[in-house]
Amino acid sequence: MNAPAPANPEQPADDEVLDRRRFVALALGGVALCYAGAVGYPIFRFLTSPAERAAAAAAVNEVLLTDAHKLPLGSALIFKFGTRPALLIHHKDDTWIALDAVCTHLACTVQYQPDKDRIECACHGGEYDAHTGRNLAGPPPKPLKRFEVKLVPSGVQVLRT
Ligand code: FES
Repeated sequence: MNAPAPANPEQPADDEVLDRRRFVALALGGVALCYAGAVGYPIFRFLTSPAERAAAAAAVNEVLLTDAHKLPLGSALIFKFGTRPALLIHHKDDTWIALDAVCTHLACTVQYQPDKDRIECACHGGEYDAHTGRNLAGPPPKPLKRFEVKLVPSGVQVLRT
């Protein structure tokens, strides 16, 4: 009868080999997952059409701006309405207006100028009325889109009309 061969002390035990293989498999899986994300996300963004993004933006019908009711007279804030920038202005006469902040000329983001009480587009000098959003000067062909504003106890609610 033959006795079992003595284990080679330099050879790793079967458990250690399995643990190393499992570790390598997990590490490779993690690297593959990161690689798939790094390659896949830009492709996903590329394939998502601007029309779908516009539809997603249009799907947002209201935004609650918490604490915006504390906005000082004669000042404004820029916020996101869906995917687009929008402008909330608290006028010195205590009236409020919310407008799409995307210029109707070539889609630059417009800014409120409190010293002139105007909305201006720095790209090509477009100007809008800060009380109505009407285009006043420069190349913008249309007024800024206006939203409904409701003051609520927690802030200001801006709604698509
Ligand atoms: S993009 Fe605003 S004036 Fe041209």
